[in-house]
Amino acid sequence: MSTEFHHISVMPEETVNGLITDLSGTYVDCTLGGAGHSGRIAARLNADGRLIGIDQDEAAIAAASERLAGCNCRVDIVRDNFSNLDNILKAQEVQAVDGILFDLGVSSYQLDTASRGFSYMQDAPLDMRMNQQAEFSAYDIINGYSMEELCRIFKEYGEERWYKRIAQFIIDARKNGPVETTGELVDIIKKAVPAAVRNSKGGHPAKRIFQAVRIEVNDELGILEKSFRSAVRHLKPGGRIAIITFHSLEDRIAKNVLKEMASGCICPPSLPVCVCNHKPEIKLLVKAAVASKSELESNSRAKSAKLRIAVKL
Ligand SMILES: C[S@@+](CC[C@H](N)C(=O)[O-])C[C@H]1O[C@@H](n2cnc3c(N)ncnc32)[C@H](O)[C@@H]1O
Repeated sequence: MSTEFHHISVMPEETVNGLITDLSGTYVDCTLGGAGHSGRIAARLNADGRLIGIDQDEAAIAAASERLAGCNCRVDIVRDNFSNLDNILKAQEVQAVDGILFDLGVSSYQLDTASRGFSYMQDAPLDMRMNQQAEFSAYDIINGYSMEELCRIFKEYGEERWYKRIAQFIIDARKNGPVETTGELVDIIKKAVPAAVRNSKGGHPAKRIFQAVRIEVNDELGILEKSFRSAVRHLKPGGRIAIITFHSLEDRIAKNVLKEMASGCICPPSLPVCVCNHKPEIKLLVKAAVASKSELESNSRAKSAKLRIAVKL
């Protein structure tokens, strides 16, 4: 499995250097993927160190298990959604950890495996589930959502200018039977987007709609705030949280949650005295770092990545 699992980790050295403070410590990788980051963490930890890797994708679990076999430190791999972090750590009998990593979104493996239905470049059944055990897929959205629901996700999660036209074209196409494949969806989007716009420099016309559907299928944004707060709660003082985001919607959530947790008073500025008694829980160490020029030359996926790191006070 691991031989087929292609994914280049983003900002690997910056992330692992910023995360590890104790070589005998316990670290959690909430987005294990192909264990690119985790492999580097495990390689640095000593025999007293421990790595807990989480992913909801069966293929990632298989690839990471193979890659992490034989590591010096203790490794526990859990197939679950990181939104269940509290329960996962309880089941692992862990109270507090030294570092937690989130490298959000999908892996290149998931995108490149046509049958998973994430890519607008390859024809496949409408799927896009990161968790293959989940029942809800892209098919249910494209064939079951109302005009209003389609508009909401295309506008909010895709920030797509032509959201209404595309939603209307999908509703019309459904009159001839269900939309079954990514290729059919791409054709509908291409018909909906005016030719002049389609041929301009804005990238593939289906890019933003595929992003919106993927976010909705996997509830990618809805779980973030709760998960980041839970992660910080589980850090030891001096422990670190590292978050890598790939688009503005998830980055805005990471930025706002970390900023609020790093703030003292969060009263509205109009109040003459503080009534919130809010105390900072973390200190921001790295604010929206981007990949170096040389990394971008070898990994185009790193282009939109932003790395944020904070330390628990
Ligand atoms: C960008 S990849 C991680 C790559 C990894 N850091 C590496 O270097 O190999 C993101 C991974 O997180 C997983 N993932 C995304 N959201 C998740 C969630 N809510 N719960 C568990 N796993 C999730 C995906 O299935 C995917 O394998």
